[in-house]
Amino acid sequence: MTQTNQQRVLGASGLEISPLGLGTNRWGVKRGQDVASIFQTFQTALDADLTFFDTAEVYTGGESERLLGECIGRDKRPVVVASKFAPLPNRLSPHALMDALDASLSRLNIETIDLYHVHWPYTLMRVDALMDMMALAVRIGKIRAVGVSNFSARQMRQAAARLARYDIPLASNEVHYSLLHRRPEVDGVLEACRELNIALIAYRPLEGGYLNGQEPVRSAAPASDRSTTAPASHARTGFLPMLRKKGPTRQEQKTILQARLNEIAQAHQKTASQVALNWLLQRDEHIIPIPGSTSPAHIADNLSALTWHLSQDEFEELDQASLSWKR
Ligand SMILES: NC(=O)c1ccc[n+]([C@@H]2O[C@H](COP(=O)([O-])OP(=O)(O)OC[C@H]3O[C@@H](n4cnc5c(N)ncnc54)[C@H](OP(=O)(O)O)[C@@H]3O)[C@@H](O)[C@H]2O)c1
Repeated sequence: MTQTNQQRVLGASGLEISPLGLGTNRWGVKRGQDVASIFQTFQTALDADLTFFDTAEVYTGGESERLLGECIGRDKRPVVVASKFAPLPNRLSPHALMDALDASLSRLNIETIDLYHVHWPYTLMRVDALMDMMALAVRIGKIRAVGVSNFSARQMRQAAARLARYDIPLASNEVHYSLLHRRPEVDGVLEACRELNIALIAYRPLEGGYLNGQEPVRSAAPASDRSTTAPASHARTGFLPMLRKKGPTRQEQKTILQARLNEIAQAHQKTASQVALNWLLQRDEHIIPIPGSTSPAHIADNLSALTWHLSQDEFEELDQASLSWKR
């Protein structure tokens, strides 16, 4: 199993980052959100050597990028910033990517974005044309590495092949991956990441807080961001008990998984969130979970996941307890 605390590399890009990143899609979500607390969250992360921050132009209408830029400007320590281009339906020319990139750079108040993703593959623009534009952005120094997000294995292979023409590796595919969403293990994405040496950035690794025993929050991300996110209502069982299939319902399976997370957490005197993050971190060195947080206490908690390990037995028990989400 992979060590939890070892530095990770963004695929073949050579960019070294912390094993955990910090998701910022709720930064600025509440009107009048406490900016001091956001800055404290940022500093708590950096103090513990978490240097990788994930944002996107569409998060909180640009507020997430702006707040992250403000934190970077105030603190001044080096960070690795990932942002994303949204291929919105009204963006029909790949040249829109360069305009969007300039706007992101301006909100972040930096000259180069370390990792720039195409946020989702659903667009009339061709993947090849988008990758040509990404290659140009690398050449003129506006980005360091190229990533994709929510891409299938076939789509990421296509993007990687196009970038290879420019001698640029595809650095990452950012996809939904947690104990309650194990599709990357079966849809070929994790396998392609291993084969092509591409980082798998795992978004929504705590299932919006559910894996810490809380009710899941709705993602602040756009609808396309949420496309693979199972809403809480999916957990509810059928109306008529007599029509229920034999065996535990989905909700019962979730409860069993949650109980097991809590037991393992208690045995290590840690939290269920840390257990859920370690299960991802220990699976493969290509996986980089990016729990979202607006709270210094939560980010400190998540960072403690890097100080201990699940035993092989605990890892396998969690694998078994979440088998029905591996599909
Ligand atoms: N590429 C994409 O399409 C896409 C889609 C969705 C998300 N993302 C990225 O992935 C990141 C993570 O996803 P997400 O934020 O939707 O879901 P998540 O990381 O699974 O969960 C975030 C929620 O968990 C809470 N939380 C965090 N750490 C906690 C802890 N130790 N104990 C208890 N609660 C904790 C947070 O609350 P507090 O805010 O109070 O800390 C927040 O409500 C996003 O921020 C975004 O950067 C990308």
